[in-house]
Amino acid sequence: MTGQENQAFQESIAEVIKKRKSIRNYKAEVLTEELKAAIKDYAVTLQGPFDKKVRFELVDYGTLLEETGGKIGTYGVIKGAKAYIAGIIEKGEKDLEQLGYVFEKIILYATFLGLGTCWLGGTFKREEFQKILDLKENEILPTVTPIGYIEEKKGVLDSVMRLAVGSNNRKEWRELFFHQSFNSPLEETETAYTLPLEMVRLAPSASNKQPWRIVKDKKAWHFYLCPTKGYGKALGFNIQRIDIGIAMCHFEMTARSQELEGIWKVKEKSPMIEGAKEEIYIVSWIEA
Ligand SMILES: Cc1cc2nc3c(=O)[nH]c(=O)nc-3n(C[C@H](O)[C@H](O)[C@H](O)COP(=O)(O)O)c2cc1C
Repeated sequence: MTGQENQAFQESIAEVIKKRKSIRNYKAEVLTEELKAAIKDYAVTLQGPFDKKVRFELVDYGTLLEETGGKIGTYGVIKGAKAYIAGIIEKGEKDLEQLGYVFEKIILYATFLGLGTCWLGGTFKREEFQKILDLKENEILPTVTPIGYIEEKKGVLDSVMRLAVGSNNRKEWRELFFHQSFNSPLEETETAYTLPLEMVRLAPSASNKQPWRIVKDKKAWHFYLCPTKGYGKALGFNIQRIDIGIAMCHFEMTARSQELEGIWKVKEKSPMIEGAKEEIYIVSWIEA
């Protein structure tokens, strides 16, 4: 994370993470030019832990409607939003994790600015967005988010979505974080990394599946994906790898805000962790 990125948040990152929620109802007001500029300026400073290129396009809903003959949409899930941000990634190794990490920084920055967002990986018309975004051969568009002023009144569809996936619930620590073995849950009192881990626990994930698992082993924090069987098959990419990128973002930003330094490293061989079942190794944070 660069100094410039750090300075963008004049509020504790943990407070911003706690404040963020998926917003599906928006006021029908267009974003001010100042806010658009602030988001664009922030987006260009961003770097991810992996080498795949991410780019963002701020798209105006009115223009989208015109250029796609009114076909653009979110199947009625998002109401009133006047702008969207599309996250486009160069295909390759760790592309989806990279997208999750960098896109979440924008989501958190928008939250800090008082704006609403909602990760959309399933309920948006990808082909219609793609038509106007001019994707290159080696690029994919896994997600978009609406961005705008929050309408406090909840819509029926929003409440149904939240209830269906249990958006207000999160798994317990003992289901997510472990010490050396998947058979040995990590206690909240056992580590200086309590806050970064808690901020992972509060992270958004596709259908709130919370597929992140983290194992501490000496100075390493190994991040695993516990895949939900058959989930998201129709998408043609593993959306849960985006969830891991989001978790990495929350973990690192919170750790650095607490002066807990480290680096990301992908081990050549997946660490042998006792009690492992279907978990897939992704990356490790190595404490400095
Ligand atoms: C990668 C990803 C994809 C998502 N896709 C959708 C989607 O297509 N439609 C939707 O309404 N919500 C979507 N969500 C939002 C999740 O349902 C939401 O984050 C989760 O239920 C937790 O609720 P919260 O964000 O309010 O904390 C997605 C979230 C993530 C991280």
